[in-house]
Amino acid sequence: MAWVAWNESYRVGNTLLDSDHRILLDLMAQLYDAMETGQSRDVIGSVVGVLAEYVGHHFRREEAIMKAAGFPDLDRHRTEHHDLERQVVDVRDRYQAGERGVLGQDVVDLLKNWLTEHILVSDNSYKPWVERVDSDGSGPSKMAERGGIQS
Ligand SMILES: [Fe+2]
Repeated sequence: MAWVAWNESYRVGNTLLDSDHRILLDLMAQLYDAMETGQSRDVIGSVVGVLAEYVGHHFRREEAIMKAAGFPDLDRHRTEHHDLERQVVDVRDRYQAGERGVLGQDVVDLLKNWLTEHILVSDNSYKPWVERVDSDGSGPSKMAERGGIQS
């Protein structure tokens, strides 16, 4: 599987969210490496655990920023997040419970494709809204950095 690193085409108009997306792609790359190099169940399990946790953390942050920016398609976007998160958490739980077959190369490919497509298509659609507020110092991304946004 060819790995996809973060690049300019993934930019969504908010520095904090761009940095989250880099971290998520890095975690996916770590998961891929851990599997390819035959790491132990503990190591792979902990990488997928961090990935699942960060996915949740990032989605909540992104939803708060979209909400503060007045993005009109928030509900549909939230549903997409919910479905993605449920899949990642399900893989984590089953893998950590000992079901090793749940995390094969096909599943990692699927997660990678979902994640990259979600950023490139769905996240890209909120860009005009979050860009407006990211450019001035008091926008939602700055507020979120200070922990001032509640979803
Ligand atoms: Fe998103």
